[in-house]
Amino acid sequence: MQVIETIKEMRAVTAKYRTEGKTIGFVPTMGALHEGHMSLVRAARAENDIVIASVFVNPTQFGPNEDYTRYPRTFDEDCELLEREGCGALFFPSPEEMYGMAGSLTWVSVDQLPEHLCGLHRPDHFQGVTTVVAKFFNIVDPHRAYFGQKDYQQSVIIRRMTADLNFPVEIRVMPIVRESDGLALSSRNRYLSADERLKALALVDSLRLAEQLYSQGEKNPAVLTDMMQRSILGGAPNAKIEYIAVVHPDTLEPLKTIKGTAVIALAVVIGTTRLIDNVIIE
Ligand code: PAJ
Repeated sequence: MQVIETIKEMRAVTAKYRTEGKTIGFVPTMGALHEGHMSLVRAARAENDIVIASVFVNPTQFGPNEDYTRYPRTFDEDCELLEREGCGALFFPSPEEMYGMAGSLTWVSVDQLPEHLCGLHRPDHFQGVTTVVAKFFNIVDPHRAYFGQKDYQQSVIIRRMTADLNFPVEIRVMPIVRESDGLALSSRNRYLSADERLKALALVDSLRLAEQLYSQGEKNPAVLTDMMQRSILGGAPNAKIEYIAVVHPDTLEPLKTIKGTAVIALAVVIGTTRLIDNVIIE
């Protein structure tokens, strides 16, 4: 696997693959890779001739009081995992390479969609995400790009940005990979103590409860979120619930009643670790 640190070299590698007629699947990540990321690499491998991954802890998507400096950086293990899954090239730029010494004056931001869910609690987060992903699309020039349903709002916003800016990139969104006990894999899970790790199960338990109530006929989001809140605080009494919401799958607007497909999403802080999870109900 080639490790590429400059934009110039990344462009040259992509151009060569394109000249050879190869299709490129791109998997952007912030590293600290786990099976969730690897599921994206495997999907990219299955659908393309070449897989290019990126590892870049993107400073512009972190708020001033968030975990940018302490975000886990596990470069050697990341390389091993990617190599094992047959990733062809890893783009690993520095913040200066991506944003220049003077930083960026140009931002890509999507209207409306960030006004819900995580966007309400992380101002500017999605602008950081869409800006860096747009830059990656320009640099890596992939045919397809792979994202996880784990970050549901992110996937919807990136789809919309890609369509609105006419990027010739097919966006593929892959299912959430979970531990055997149900906890959604996340790079931030490694912040959890053993006790917090147990309490974190309250998130997936509450989502499963909502699914069960829904399948028994409960279509009222207010009832579902109320039951979920009780369930979370039952399993993790000190948890800080940032939001629990039942939203439209495309607009992300809160639903008053569930008619077609809906997404139930939540963000909960366990100890000092902010965790998110969701389910799509049809
Ligand atoms: P990161 O959190 O590293 O996640 C990279 C990709 O892996 C995202 O598309 C995310 O949804 C997916 N992913 C994470 N956990 C997953 C799980 N348990 N199952 C399936 N997929 C999972 O998301 C980002 O990085 C950044 O915002 C990025 C898009 C790279 C832009 O900086």
